[in-house]
Amino acid sequence: MQLNTDYNIKNVGENVKLNGWVAKVRNLGGIIFIDLRDRTGVIQLLVKPESKSYKEALELKNEYVISVEGTIVARENANKNIATGEIEVVVNNLEILNTSLEVPFEISDTTTALEDTRLKYRYLDIRRNNISNKLITRHKAILAVRNFLDKERFIEVETPILCKSTPEGARDYLVPSRVNKGKFYALPQSPQIFKQLLMIGGIGRYFQIAKCFRDEDLRADRQPEFTQIDIEMSFVDELDVMALAERLVAHIFKEIKGIDIKLPLMKMKYDDAIAIYGSDKPDLRFDMKIQEVTNLFSNTTVSFIKENIENGGIINAIVAKNAADKYSRKEIDKLTDYVKTYKANGLIYLKLEEELNGSISKIINEEEKNKIISELNLEKNDIAFFISGKKSVVKTALGALRCKLGRDLNLIDKNDYKMLWVVDFPAFEWSEEENRFMATHHPFTAPKDSDVDKLLNDKAHCYSKAYDIVINGYEAGGGSIRIHDEKIQEKMFEALELTPQQIREKFGFFVDALKYGTPPHGGLAFGMDRLVMLLTNTENIRDVIAFPKTASASDLMSDCPNNVDEYQLKELGIAIKK
Ligand code: AMO
Repeated sequence: MQLNTDYNIKNVGENVKLNGWVAKVRNLGGIIFIDLRDRTGVIQLLVKPESKSYKEALELKNEYVISVEGTIVARENANKNIATGEIEVVVNNLEILNTSLEVPFEISDTTTALEDTRLKYRYLDIRRNNISNKLITRHKAILAVRNFLDKERFIEVETPILCKSTPEGARDYLVPSRVNKGKFYALPQSPQIFKQLLMIGGIGRYFQIAKCFRDEDLRADRQPEFTQIDIEMSFVDELDVMALAERLVAHIFKEIKGIDIKLPLMKMKYDDAIAIYGSDKPDLRFDMKIQEVTNLFSNTTVSFIKENIENGGIINAIVAKNAADKYSRKEIDKLTDYVKTYKANGLIYLKLEEELNGSISKIINEEEKNKIISELNLEKNDIAFFISGKKSVVKTALGALRCKLGRDLNLIDKNDYKMLWVVDFPAFEWSEEENRFMATHHPFTAPKDSDVDKLLNDKAHCYSKAYDIVINGYEAGGGSIRIHDEKIQEKMFEALELTPQQIREKFGFFVDALKYGTPPHGGLAFGMDRLVMLLTNTENIRDVIAFPKTASASDLMSDCPNNVDEYQLKELGIAIKK
């Protein structure tokens, strides 16, 4: 089957048959011009008054579905903006295959329709090249992944969707069982346990384009239902997995964007990423590093800074070069509100104008001012932002502010790709909510060989064999070498404060499996949706998913989730509490 953009100036004189939607009709002094749209783009049709199909052409409205036969001719005035701009089709025969209601928004890349309207009529939204092109890129990326991994002797294995709860740290979506009343399946948050079981099963090199489900707070880069490129390998260490994964990423970027990614990718320790960028997914497309300036204030008389330092807190800074004049009091107030959403108490700023001016310029002494100017290398019209407080808050808030300034000050080249590995993650992170240490990745991640004893004795300093791949400030993927020794796995569960009974109930089958000759293994999973976001330069994950959910996890088109019939609930033994 030929599509619109298969034709160009070389096809002049050919008789063709085309199908598609009417994107635009214009009647210019008797001759009717029609823009015929299909997935690939638009081609111009021309129906002359003497044509036997003229009557049908007069009836056409936008989004009617038509089939035409005609002859390709060269256009007098070529349109350089479209692929078929040098040709048009003189229609000999036109058939209206279907009519259409007036559409609720214009089918064009520049539509101003609200996203909610577009999502309600997603099938119309998909007619826009903005969306369909992203789906095409997604398809090509998946193809590139499959071809690459097949050549590397991986095999794709499907794993269950109805399964037992999997421990990725989010809430599960549960599915009630009719046959086993009162019992539930969970939808997989990832195929983690299954892929490890496949390694025990001797598969050696597994992958899957896998659907995952997580009931968590949604963001611009998070969906409740998303897709991973899930990978697992036996007899490997961290470097083996990272080398394979980065070659895969390079292959995808070459195939889709024609870009050569320089390998090996840089590796940055988690602790350094937090110290310098305030984030475990640093955006390296611009500089603006976080600077440690606590010692500049060691003798300060500024009481709130003094108190903070005495209580073990820190003060850090970032500098926006040549941007002081862009920040009025009002703008700075907005930034202050912004950092407060990251739990900072406030935002200090100092601008180098004729002298150092800013929120604390009247209460710091000359010596401090001079030290600040020289340590931070301040030049005229630079503005430095400081946050004083608890280390974790200072780093996170300045990290977020850094990204905001990078965007606001246009420091980011949108066509640039900066990739790195973040390595040496702590095995555990403290959860204020749960008041206990939780697994930073998941409980199957192996601790560093030197830190096995810390699993139970010193969790705060226990590091793991985990790695994340970060692209332009997005966590594009993550994985680890797994625990293959059943005793260490039990220790890990114990470290996570699971009782022996809980271990048995939740993971008994897995601990048993580990006892039957488990090979050393490891892997990772890429967020497929995030990779396609990066490949298509969008910051909205919904753009790369055909039928996405809104921020409140609903589908506006089919009005889902929704109530179910009383008899369905009864069959499942479920009563809804009002
Ligand atoms: P993790 O939980 O880090 O690891 O997930 C891997 C990658 O999946 C993507 N991702 C998401 N994308 C869209 N919406 C979401 N809600 C979402 N959650 C995660 C991210 C992330 O880097 N089983 C492990 C992998 C492993 O250890 O091999 C896992 O799932 O890009």
